[in-house]
Amino acid sequence: MANTYREFIDQSVDFPQDGFEVRNDCLFFHGIELMELIEQYGTPLKLNYLPSISNQIQKARYHFGQAMVEIGYQGTYTYCYCTKSSHFAFVLDEVLKNNVELETSSAYDIHIIRRLFEQGKITKNTMLVHNGYKRELYAKLIADLINDGFNSVPVLDNQKELKLLSSMVTKPCNIGIRIATGEEPQSEYYTARLGIRHRNIQSFYEKEIADSDIFNLKMLHLFIDNGIEDSLYYWNELSKCLQVYCDLKKVCPTLDSLNIGGGFPTKQSLADEFDYQYLTQEIVRHIKEYCQKEGVPEPNILTEFGSYTVAESGATIYSIIDQKKQNDVEWWNMIDSSFITTLPDTWAINKRFILLAINNWNDPYERVNLGGLTCDNQDYYNVEAHVNNIYLPKYSTTRQQYIGFFNTGAYQNALGGYGGIQHCLIPSPKQILVRKDENGVLKSELFAEEQGHEVMLKILGY
Ligand SMILES: Cc1ncc(COP(=O)(O)O)c(C=O)c1O
Repeated sequence: MANTYREFIDQSVDFPQDGFEVRNDCLFFHGIELMELIEQYGTPLKLNYLPSISNQIQKARYHFGQAMVEIGYQGTYTYCYCTKSSHFAFVLDEVLKNNVELETSSAYDIHIIRRLFEQGKITKNTMLVHNGYKRELYAKLIADLINDGFNSVPVLDNQKELKLLSSMVTKPCNIGIRIATGEEPQSEYYTARLGIRHRNIQSFYEKEIADSDIFNLKMLHLFIDNGIEDSLYYWNELSKCLQVYCDLKKVCPTLDSLNIGGGFPTKQSLADEFDYQYLTQEIVRHIKEYCQKEGVPEPNILTEFGSYTVAESGATIYSIIDQKKQNDVEWWNMIDSSFITTLPDTWAINKRFILLAINNWNDPYERVNLGGLTCDNQDYYNVEAHVNNIYLPKYSTTRQQYIGFFNTGAYQNALGGYGGIQHCLIPSPKQILVRKDENGVLKSELFAEEQGHEVMLKILGY
């Protein structure tokens, strides 16, 4: 029987583990003393531990590199960063230290690309994979990049996009086609709305692209909705896409790349364990064997990992400001912000993140629900991914309790409309960056203060 929060965690999951440890009753994240950060900056706060981003990129490259050597794979591996998972300049700065390529998803992304180029952070050789549905503005901005000599590869989401681009692109360029993947049986629909149906791809290529002086089909793109996982569904979908690749390769000599999209898994719970080396080897082996069977050379492999790149760099920290006992069993620990606005995936898709107390690890623990500050009854978090309830050190009015949600670095700011108008006008929290200096010493800095009322009133027209 566990008596303290610390004993409870020890008995529930393997702890300490990579990135998390407890010293003197308090939690450290990647060696960062979180209590020190809270004392310096206050809560609520979003923390961005930037070295994690480079580590993730290097790890993925290592796994793919190893797998390719072991399996004797003839193609190359390219890491693209999917900007939509976090557009912040501090993220892109870290990502680009690793010489990666970039993937964009909307017209507004292209302005970021132009800015990065002006700042000398990318060159015209940086590969730019342009995904997403292309309306006129996005197509025009992509065409301008191509005409200006950038290494842009628009990936066609539908057949009409080719016509749109043809009217704007003047220089020969590489293009890709996104394959519409099938959905899992329990899904509400059969085929992803993104991409072109399997059976239409070859005839589309033969009719519209094969004889083009401008467009070379270089890449097939797929993104299996559930992400990359060791499941029958994933391997079946990958095989279906490989069949399209192989059929097309037999008639399209310029095709040499397979972009397997994003979806490399990240930890949502301390109980999650992913064998990335195994998963990578299986992907590489699967592709090689399929192509061998079909007698076509294996493609160069690209990935566009978003969550995998940035999720683990992020933490979101709150204070418990009160405990409301609404009946004998439902005790609500109120946080000093909102889940709907700061961790919207917890509210919208019931996503779970790693949740840990930051201090008071040697105190007794209790089962609680967590409530946000908005008036919305859905603004709560009450179930952990690895255990069915939430347990935290016992609430007390005589000492402060802080909690942290970890691996929150992907998508949450964009989906929560960071810096805009949020539910019940709960302000966007402050953002803190943590880097290592040249001696490996951790240094924090304030990136943005908590949103003030002036910004809100301005947006609202007052
Ligand atoms: C085309 C494309 N590539 C990559 C990604 C990144 O996915 P993830 O964050 O799961 O790695 C997405 C996410 O929606 C996507 O749509």
